[in-house]
Amino acid sequence: MKIKKVFLENYFSKIEIQDNNILDYFSRLLNKFFNNKDEYKNIGEILTTDIHSHILPGIDDGAKSLNESIAMIEALVLLGYKKAVLTPHIMNEGYKNDTERILNLFYLLNKQIQAKNIDIVLDVSAEYYLDDNFLFLLSSNDILPLCGNHILFETSYLSLPFNFKEIIYEMRVRGYRPLLAHPERYIYVRDNYSIYEEWRDLGIEFQLELNSFNAKYGKEALKRAVWLSQKGWIDYLGTDAHSIEDILRIKDAKYLYPLSKVISSNDIKNIRYC
Ligand SMILES: [Fe+2]
Repeated sequence: MKIKKVFLENYFSKIEIQDNNILDYFSRLLNKFFNNKDEYKNIGEILTTDIHSHILPGIDDGAKSLNESIAMIEALVLLGYKKAVLTPHIMNEGYKNDTERILNLFYLLNKQIQAKNIDIVLDVSAEYYLDDNFLFLLSSNDILPLCGNHILFETSYLSLPFNFKEIIYEMRVRGYRPLLAHPERYIYVRDNYSIYEEWRDLGIEFQLELNSFNAKYGKEALKRAVWLSQKGWIDYLGTDAHSIEDILRIKDAKYLYPLSKVISSNDIKNIRYC
């Protein structure tokens, strides 16, 4: 069985991911031969730290209550995680959060987690949307960095800001390491994969979503995620959990591309730096 599994994974990984029908076919084949859920249900034990989640209650489009936050954290523990960095949105149009509000909620939640003896270490940062407010925060040195000196950031799904390169430069000149959340999900990338190379040249690191590999975000995002994995350009993996369902999906979903392959072909830094 083990031999079959290794053979299928190796065979599967050599396929050029250009034809989604082929991808689906081999995914079904893989799932037919063995119950591949076992490989993934404790992914947290391998990654140790989750670096992207929306668990703080009532502050963005993630957890709505303290109870939901606690349940999500318990679900991360079940997945094997030892640490989680909570990263609420900071976005001028939508979630006008600030450092003080985030830290106050974090202390409140962390107290509850410790009182309940839940075996996980929590840390806090943010997912910064590239807008004018972000530039203001950057120039005011009002940033909650992630894993040392990273800034986790996102852009609109539809277009890049016109001053993208300048913003990246501003981050780097201040000593931060820009870490782009879910590069596989931006619709504007389409099939123009050379943009990823340009971003790497700018010194941007990539955090991909675990759920992209089970096609939660669609086949195009899956295709881009597999391409990035095969290039070895994945620096971090995150749950980007907005709900318990997002976490359970990581445990139970059928993966269309094996996470074991993602981990073996990339230098995933969750394990070392967070
Ligand atoms: Fe997010």
